[in-house]
Amino acid sequence: MSVLPATSREWHLVARPHGEPRAEDFALREAPVSAPGEGRVLVRNLYFSVDPYMRGRMNDVESYAAPFQLDHPMAGGAVGEVIASDAEGFAVGDHVRHQLGWREYAELPGEDAVKVDASLAPLSAYLGVLGMTGLTAYAGLFESASFKKGDAVFVSGAAGAVGSVVGQLAKIKGASRVIGSAGSDEKVDLLIEEFGFDAAFNYKNGPVAKQLEEAAPDGIDVYFDNVGGEHLDAALSSLNLYGRVAMCGMISQYNSTEPTAAPSNLILVISKRLRLQGMLAFDHFGLRQQFVQDVAGWLASGELEYRETVVEGIENGYEAFAGLLRGDNTGKMIVSVVP
Ligand SMILES: NC(=O)c1ccc[n+]([C@@H]2O[C@H](COP(=O)([O-])OP(=O)(O)OC[C@H]3O[C@@H](n4cnc5c(N)ncnc54)[C@H](OP(=O)(O)O)[C@@H]3O)[C@@H](O)[C@H]2O)c1
Repeated sequence: MSVLPATSREWHLVARPHGEPRAEDFALREAPVSAPGEGRVLVRNLYFSVDPYMRGRMNDVESYAAPFQLDHPMAGGAVGEVIASDAEGFAVGDHVRHQLGWREYAELPGEDAVKVDASLAPLSAYLGVLGMTGLTAYAGLFESASFKKGDAVFVSGAAGAVGSVVGQLAKIKGASRVIGSAGSDEKVDLLIEEFGFDAAFNYKNGPVAKQLEEAAPDGIDVYFDNVGGEHLDAALSSLNLYGRVAMCGMISQYNSTEPTAAPSNLILVISKRLRLQGMLAFDHFGLRQQFVQDVAGWLASGELEYRETVVEGIENGYEAFAGLLRGDNTGKMIVSVVP
């Protein structure tokens, strides 16, 4: 076994944010590194993921993911290289994905690590298009929204990790029209020019309902909701009879300190016989094999493109997370641990 590092830097939550997270709510601290125990591996993280759902874990409320504990390292998706192993099936040099991100070195049971193939795709892709956000797009569109050929699809957060994949998958599978919304004119151009959306608009440029109506004059059959609030309201108005909504995220409300208003037009669900389906990626892990096979194929054929915004250096981990909530990213926001 080679000489192990003595310490690892890791991001702790030190105060629970009220509204927008602030730099003072987080601290980068050093912790000792230990050799892996029986059945365990020590991983040098190369990339870790920052995701909108982590904002929810910063609150002390019961949810599908446990709250982060104060003065403990935060967690989340990461990929890295095994540097010491006492776990059957794992050797030094293996690349793995696991859930102990936000730190330089992670010591964990072998059963919590999944080997990933660096020859199939760049390692960072296993946190995005070939990872959790890609699976969310795939499962949300094909299972939760019961997408079928000929559907007109609207996706919000369309230039982000989930949204950019949703729109392209809908095109690949024969959507009649794909419309996206995003928070800058540059992102809108990218949606049309690079990702092949039929129409897109900047939700900051005017009322969402009006812009959506113009972009989808014949209405929409599927709404993939990443944003909630005004976007959901507008989508309910534009949905056709028997339309379906994959309720994936509501990022416009994650920093809210007051209760948020319900859609004012929810009654349309009855007259239009709409279906609103909440979804969580981890309920769809059974799809993983099919998902990786399909998505790797579309990446190889060039039918599917993906973007990443990589923030360099573990010391910029908080700033990457804050930037994600601000919309600094195009595609998946990722922190490269080593600058
Ligand atoms: N249900 C699940 O299992 C699951 C899994 C993964 C993700 N999600 C959800 O899916 C959504 C997208 O996640 P992601 O990982 O792909 O993140 P992302 O879209 O790559 O990044 C977040 C984006 O949200 C946009 N945003 C921020 N504040 C906004 C606001 N007030 N109104 C409209 N847009 C806003 C920003 O883009 P703009 O520049 O366009 O504003 C930002 O880039 C999130 O709601 C997330 O919680 C759910």
